[in-house]
Amino acid sequence: MIIIKTAEEIEMMKKAGEILADTHKEIAKMIKPGISTMEIDRFVDEYLAGRGAIAAQKGYHGYQYATCASVNDEICHGFPSEKELNDGDIVAIDMVVDLDGWLADSAWSYAVGNISDEAKKLMDVTKKSLYLGIEQAVIGNRIGDISHAVQTYVEANGFSVVRDFVGHGIGKSMHEDPQVPHYGKPGRGVRLSEGMVLTIEPMVNIGTYKLKIDDNKWTARTLDGKLSAQYEHTIAITNDGPIILTDQGEDR
Ligand code: MF3
Ligand code: CO
Repeated sequence: MIIIKTAEEIEMMKKAGEILADTHKEIAKMIKPGISTMEIDRFVDEYLAGRGAIAAQKGYHGYQYATCASVNDEICHGFPSEKELNDGDIVAIDMVVDLDGWLADSAWSYAVGNISDEAKKLMDVTKKSLYLGIEQAVIGNRIGDISHAVQTYVEANGFSVVRDFVGHGIGKSMHEDPQVPHYGKPGRGVRLSEGMVLTIEPMVNIGTYKLKIDDNKWTARTLDGKLSAQYEHTIAITNDGPIILTDQGEDR
């Protein structure tokens, strides 16, 4: 069942989204060789508390951290660790902010120091595919139009889209209907209507889209060990087109 949000509810989710966007902008300043993802995780916990918000991932189905921090071949649900990030790594930080019971969800990929041209291209293509998906999130289109736009652009650039994790509706719960795959056919799936709030969160791999799950039962990594990147926004579907609730501003 898809839970439609009122304009007032979307406004509350936007407040959560603004805090989340600000958190990512702070993380961007912290990322450098030598910092650990656990330091970032601790920062996020404290920063959110200072803004009167909560890290919704903590305690979610037993997950223990404020953030997911997925380094290099990790696709998603990487555990923050005390291990230092190295020059040339890429890391996706994913988190869900709860402000007064309303949630927003956004992941962002970061370059650590100087990264390879291939890693840079992966990040650029993944981010662009997110925005091409968002462009399709207009009333009257269908979920498949979002999916297809993401997949087409990613594959035209020689990369692959992860199948096993999808975007989702979001509101007072982290995961609501409908699912938003990042691959599929145009004109298929649920029709988009005013007041739907969705995440679009493509995970893009340099090699195969196939993955394996670590012994920790959470962390997904590429089967071939090649790099993976992710960008995610929470968006609201309105009469004025998609509104990015987790927008970080023009320079992002
Ligand atoms: N933010 C993730 C998503 O996009 C959820 C991570 S799972 C968690 O849906 F348990 F870590 F929260
Ligand atoms: Co999500």
